[in-house]
Amino acid sequence: MAKHTVITMPGDGIGNQVLPQALRVLKAVGFDAEYIHADIGWDCWCREGNALPQRTIDLLSEYKLGLFGAITSKPKKEAEAELSPELRGKGHSYFSPIVTMRQKFNLDTCIRPCISVPGNPLNFIRKKANGGFEEPLVNVVVFRQNTEGLYAGVEWTNPPKDVRAALATHAKFKPFAATPGTDLAISVRIITRRAARKICKAAFEWAKNNKYKSVTICEKPNVLRETSGLMEEEAKAVAREYPGIALWSTNIDAQTMWLTKNPEEYGVVVASNLFGDVISDAFAGLIGGLGFAASGNIGDEVAVFEPTHGSAPKYAELDPPIVNPIAMFLSAVMMLEHVGEIDKARHIREAIAAVVKEGRVRTYDMMRIPGGTTAIRQGAASTIEMTDAVIGKIESRELAYAVAERERA
Ligand code: NAI
Ligand code: MG
Repeated sequence: MAKHTVITMPGDGIGNQVLPQALRVLKAVGFDAEYIHADIGWDCWCREGNALPQRTIDLLSEYKLGLFGAITSKPKKEAEAELSPELRGKGHSYFSPIVTMRQKFNLDTCIRPCISVPGNPLNFIRKKANGGFEEPLVNVVVFRQNTEGLYAGVEWTNPPKDVRAALATHAKFKPFAATPGTDLAISVRIITRRAARKICKAAFEWAKNNKYKSVTICEKPNVLRETSGLMEEEAKAVAREYPGIALWSTNIDAQTMWLTKNPEEYGVVVASNLFGDVISDAFAGLIGGLGFAASGNIGDEVAVFEPTHGSAPKYAELDPPIVNPIAMFLSAVMMLEHVGEIDKARHIREAIAAVVKEGRVRTYDMMRIPGGTTAIRQGAASTIEMTDAVIGKIESRELAYAVAERERA
């Protein structure tokens, strides 16, 4: 029997291209696992009226560890139009399966490392005042609350009477009170003290265990006085338990400006759901963008790892595939770390770093050329060639990892 069982959910589009390549890399480092495929995504919606079928939920409940590619989501009207005819008008409504999965398993802690790999031509550079450029290395890990806030899904167009009545009791609702229901859309930003405390705690624990000097709470408490206020209150309470780690407080809007001025000054960043989503994408842009951005969705029992990117439908049919699989590999690395396979994780990290630093094999995004059919002709590596290069490094004897292994032997 294998040591680990992983539920693999390639999903839609390029999820089907990058996830199988990650399994090749995991095999190359000798990860002892059995993989069980599970369906998720657009086809499930169209055929079954449910993008996250019960059989997939059952598998995750049983095995508790998932590796996910990407899914396609479409707006309400398109979703209804693509639903198989016999299912239409039967009360099916589309929900993003990844958001549903996070809520169903209470995967409340989302970890998104944004750490520059030296030599990546997509790394952030900055003009120096006295001429020339410098490349500050970014080493940020974003902790995003994953189940609440504006993504909790409590929203209406044309809110029911009792909701309107409740809103009418709030003085600030007055200017909107006369708006007809069909012209009024409302989303509720829900933050519980428990979840706020938990995400702040997770951020500080990570900072402590990985020797970060600061945790930045990135909210907007001067305007969102209740919800961001509560996040900040909890961050302050948690900070008192970690005397060696500074708590910084920034506003989400200002933070998006500062991160292109002095990104190297930030360490761990913690935020509620939407702000965490925004700020992690912003930091990811400094370290190579979607081809490098990995994430883990962690709950008390279940954990699912995924690249931050979506299904990139415009590249999904290309043969050979051209997208960068590194974000998927880094997600697999996070999974290895989560299950305690620290050496294997390190082995893959070093192999990726070596390929990036060498710069001989680069996918189209790393060359800053347009994707599409011409990319390969212009010298871009395919998804498979990038994978081959990483596996080549894993199998070579040149990595620090391999050297240490030889010394141990
Ligand atoms: P996307 O992330 O799929 O792609 C945006 C663009 O980024 C692509 O067109 C491509 O140019 C580039 N890109 C993405 N991944 C790349 C990679 N690995 N290597 C190189 N370039 C890469 O976002 P988009 O186009 O906004 O959404 C497409 C679909 O994906 C939508 O249906 C959306 O709802 C869904 N989506 C799903 C997510 C998930 O599964 N967690 C997250 C984001 C979007
Ligand atoms: Mg996002």
